[in-house]
Amino acid sequence: MATSSGRSCLQYLLHLAQDNLDFRLPSPFWCLNGLVEEDVRSIMARSVCAKSAFELWGHGRTHSELRTSLLNYPSENMSPFMHKDSTYRINVYTFNKTLQFAERIKRIDAMEYLQFEGTVNLKNPQHIFCLLEDYGTDPNNIPEHPDYIYFGRWIADGQRELIQSHSVKNRHFIGNTSMDAGLSFIMANHARVKENDLVFDPFVGTGSLLVACSHFGAYVCGTDIDYNTIHGKGRSSRKSQKWRGPDENIRANLRQYGTEKMYLDVMVSDASKPVWREAALFDAIITDPPYGIRESTRRTGSNKEITKPTEGIYVESHVPVSQAYHLSDIFTDLLNFSAHHLVMGGRLVYWLPVYRYCDEMVPLHPCLQLISNCEQTLSSHTSRRLITMEKIKNPEDLDTLANVADPRFSPYQGHNAFREKYFSGLNKRCGKEDHRSAVNGD
Ligand SMILES: C[S@@+](CC[C@H](N)C(=O)[O-])C[C@H]1O[C@@H](n2cnc3c(N)ncnc32)[C@H](O)[C@@H]1O
Repeated sequence: MATSSGRSCLQYLLHLAQDNLDFRLPSPFWCLNGLVEEDVRSIMARSVCAKSAFELWGHGRTHSELRTSLLNYPSENMSPFMHKDSTYRINVYTFNKTLQFAERIKRIDAMEYLQFEGTVNLKNPQHIFCLLEDYGTDPNNIPEHPDYIYFGRWIADGQRELIQSHSVKNRHFIGNTSMDAGLSFIMANHARVKENDLVFDPFVGTGSLLVACSHFGAYVCGTDIDYNTIHGKGRSSRKSQKWRGPDENIRANLRQYGTEKMYLDVMVSDASKPVWREAALFDAIITDPPYGIRESTRRTGSNKEITKPTEGIYVESHVPVSQAYHLSDIFTDLLNFSAHHLVMGGRLVYWLPVYRYCDEMVPLHPCLQLISNCEQTLSSHTSRRLITMEKIKNPEDLDTLANVADPRFSPYQGHNAFREKYFSGLNKRCGKEDHRSAVNGD
């Protein structure tokens, strides 16, 4: 991000949407310092969490404090937007309270102390200003006066409309665990996916995460162990439809959103036995591994002795058997794979199921730095955490012995008692309950 320059002392205000509150403090307003307007515009060009951004001109606990604050705001910051040749409009926004029209007009009239010299234009003004009143977050206890008030110049809106336009409700190809559009875009943002990146989803399912990444200009590919999912065959997840129709597949999903040219391919493959050559191939790995709730956690292979067909002989009727893929192994494999196949600075973004009564336990890897960890509650006992990690080291450069001491550096340890206890508790809980949000209803 650029550093603050030019017009002095600028502060920005984000107006956040009231969803995914588990991920952040519940306040709908957030002040940003140390940025320039271009930075804020860049954030808004990507964010599905922020509704609007403003250059903050004044704020206070009362209207009188707001007035003092506004009158102290440097006039050189205000004047380019208030001169007599300009057109403008003032909006009033209230959070957790509805104001009658007359009340809104009163609020605007009360701001006459600001020297607007331009002409009011409600339809198509050059500049939009907003008075924002925060009445707290308790709908059962709405105060008479706002807890806090802000006034600022509108700069940009966020990308909230992507949540509607990409809703899985209207998506061509969906499955029982398709990730909802808002969370898919949040994941792509956490991964910092950008134009011409190469992004991989090892548990691709119906490709919701690829849809979001391709929207930001990345080339996308994925694997899934399920033949029917990869080939868009089998039973439909829609109530109204028994079997999947022709062309119900991930490529068609990208086509629906105009990003088919970013589609590389998807293939049937077991994430526990990666097929990729040993190289740092991907700018981001972004995935929602199976938790064993709606989809089983299986991998190819068997615990029994199997007679292998003779090398080079194609056995047409051969169907690989499968065995349980324990959650602990899924995450061990995922981190290890990412350490080897991400470019330096590339990001792994994934969902980790969590048993809520256990001490926090995020798998770590010496090559991957934990960037963020956001909890989303699923039921009284379970939640999932959106984990973001960044590659900071190549596995070849590691002194493996130094890392064995930490039980969470699982890729170098195989199983251990601590991980086993944690994940087996979760496995039991998850097996009994299914509290993931309804897919077909967003
Ligand atoms: C939670 S779903 C992913 C949903 C996906 N994000 C979407 O939007 O449709 C997990 C996927 O992992 C797949 N899977 C399960 N075990 C696997 C394995 N061993 N290797 C690769 N994929 C696997 C399942 O078939 C399922 O499609």
